[in-house]
Amino acid sequence: MVPHEEATVHVLTHALHYGTGVFEGIRAYEAAGGTAVFRLKEHIDRMIRSAKAYCMDPPHTSDELVEACKELLRVNEFESAYIRPIMFLGLGALGLDPRNAEINTAIITWKWGAYLGEEGVLNGIRVKVSSWRRFSQDAFPNAKATGTYINSILAKLEAVNDGYDEAMLLNSDGTLSEGSGENVFLIRDGVVYTPPLSAGCLEGVTRDAVKTLLSDDGYTVVEKVFHRSDLYYCDELFMTGTAAEVTPVREVDNRTVGNGRPGPVTRRAQQIYADAYTGKLDAYSHWLHYV
Ligand SMILES: Cc1ncc(COP(=O)(O)O)c(C=O)c1O
Repeated sequence: MVPHEEATVHVLTHALHYGTGVFEGIRAYEAAGGTAVFRLKEHIDRMIRSAKAYCMDPPHTSDELVEACKELLRVNEFESAYIRPIMFLGLGALGLDPRNAEINTAIITWKWGAYLGEEGVLNGIRVKVSSWRRFSQDAFPNAKATGTYINSILAKLEAVNDGYDEAMLLNSDGTLSEGSGENVFLIRDGVVYTPPLSAGCLEGVTRDAVKTLLSDDGYTVVEKVFHRSDLYYCDELFMTGTAAEVTPVREVDNRTVGNGRPGPVTRRAQQIYADAYTGKLDAYSHWLHYV
């Protein structure tokens, strides 16, 4: 346990220079039986998969990291929080051969409200299709690595500087990939669609949860390749992520989505996702790790 002002890194940290780190974003909520971390194991396992893709040998097991996240919440006495585990290359090498660099692990937690704003959750956000393409899958593994986020940051900056709330990225084929930090869902004629992982999107834990919840709720959920104009023609559009949760999109490239208000499927997805993470749905209680 390290106090905030002492939680620093050296300027020769390998990851500072080259983005050689992998990380996660996780949320803990006040649930029916106390504070619970949503799908903690799935997040930690994804971080370990990301480490593997970058030939980093994790110094801790999945169970140790799960336990450490919970302990950190207990010590900080947080009832709800955002949790950021990160594994990154530190001192020992500053060339591009990273094999002698030590692997550092940190877990940080803080309070974080609605990532795209309360107003966005209620009424929907305005999105711009970025002029930057999602990094290609033959340039980087599909992993949550720190360095690749500079791609998302370019897209996000372009979007917010142009007055939008969020960026949507196409991949190098011109088909829909994902948001700068979210997966994307489209609804057309009552069917729920999301791009496949082959579109270059992150294997989102929330994406998986929302697919499962809507499918169990009776909706047809299909993975499908989409083009830019599909964003203009769909009836409803929303984005999912641990930080963004389920955020409706009301406008893309200055075209109104549907009638400009979050639609019934989006509202239903928001509701059942919240019911799941607050422990109101017994069928998904295995997704909660009580602290
Ligand atoms: C680029 C990107 N896509 C999708 C997601 C959604 O992933 P998850 O639902 O696991 O948080 C995130 C957030 O981690 C992200 O950064």
